[in-house]
Amino acid sequence: PVNLSGRPFLRLLDFSTEEIDYLLKLSKNFKDLKRTGTPHRYLEGKNIVLLFQKTSTRTRCAFEVGAMDLGMGVTYLDPGSSQMGKKESIEDTARVLGRFYDGIEFRGFAQTDVEDLAANAGVPVWNGLTTEWHPTQMLADILTVQENFNYDIKGKTLVFMGDAANNVARSLMVVCSKLGMNFVACGPKENMPDAELVETCTAIAAENGCTVKCTDDVAEACTGAHVIYTDVWVSMGEPDEVWAERIKHLEKFRVTKEVMAMADPEAIFLHCLPAFHDTNTTIGADIAERFGVTEMEVEDVVFESKQSKVFDEAENRMHTIKAVMYATLCG
Ligand code: CP
Ligand code: NVA
Repeated sequence: PVNLSGRPFLRLLDFSTEEIDYLLKLSKNFKDLKRTGTPHRYLEGKNIVLLFQKTSTRTRCAFEVGAMDLGMGVTYLDPGSSQMGKKESIEDTARVLGRFYDGIEFRGFAQTDVEDLAANAGVPVWNGLTTEWHPTQMLADILTVQENFNYDIKGKTLVFMGDAANNVARSLMVVCSKLGMNFVACGPKENMPDAELVETCTAIAAENGCTVKCTDDVAEACTGAHVIYTDVWVSMGEPDEVWAERIKHLEKFRVTKEVMAMADPEAIFLHCLPAFHDTNTTIGADIAERFGVTEMEVEDVVFESKQSKVFDEAENRMHTIKAVMYATLCG
């Protein structure tokens, strides 16, 4: 039997197939409880803190609502309002917060920061995104794939289009290889996951009867695929100057209706969000003006299509994050 009590949740490489399966089943249970309005205040009396060094909509709200549904108290510390990183080290912050709280969520830059926090807190630490990994996102993504393919995801193919070197693509490569899904990174050579991780995931995939592939051939990648996934071309923390080069290199890898037409007729489109699919945002309007493009990683018609499951995926952040908190905090 799986027991994750007391464990930090820092990256999916640290979890077995069985453990990830368990978290996904638990997520589905929590989703059913929420949908039927069944109270589930299983962690009454506990408190958690959310530490954000970068902005967030989904992750923060998923942790807050998830914690409140479980009966817990929550403190949110925004990028500017704690001493951490300015007047106080991560280690000292961890030792203090670990005495107040039963669990700590952290979103920041270096993966080593969330690891330092976990090593010093004495309570479970959950990685809400670093430059290297975004492990809670993948549980929501895979739950969404399961819901659309009748919980039969082994042997299905997921293609990540675009900046395949980023936190989301790297995490997807890990989760797919652990769960028996074929993973294809489709983008330019400059934006591929590092060779060492590709090698690690290829070995994991072989054990689970699936494959890992990196290619710049869109037709080869997407023909017959079951999930077409993309993410922003420039991630949080990257300098604004990279936009010009990214647009130039990644334009070929935009998810268009032609791309969706190559995929399996039942294929779904996923995006962790926030997505750049129109110019109805201040950043969108600014980029449109500077570079003369109105769409980035995904065409608006694909984003708004029936195949797009991005809002189910966003909702699933809450159910899956609840599962992670419950599994690691229950006694
Ligand atoms: N997908 C995701 O992590 O969204 P936020 O940045 O809004 O938390
Ligand atoms: N790759 C994106 C994901 C946002 C949820 C970023 O790190 O900004």
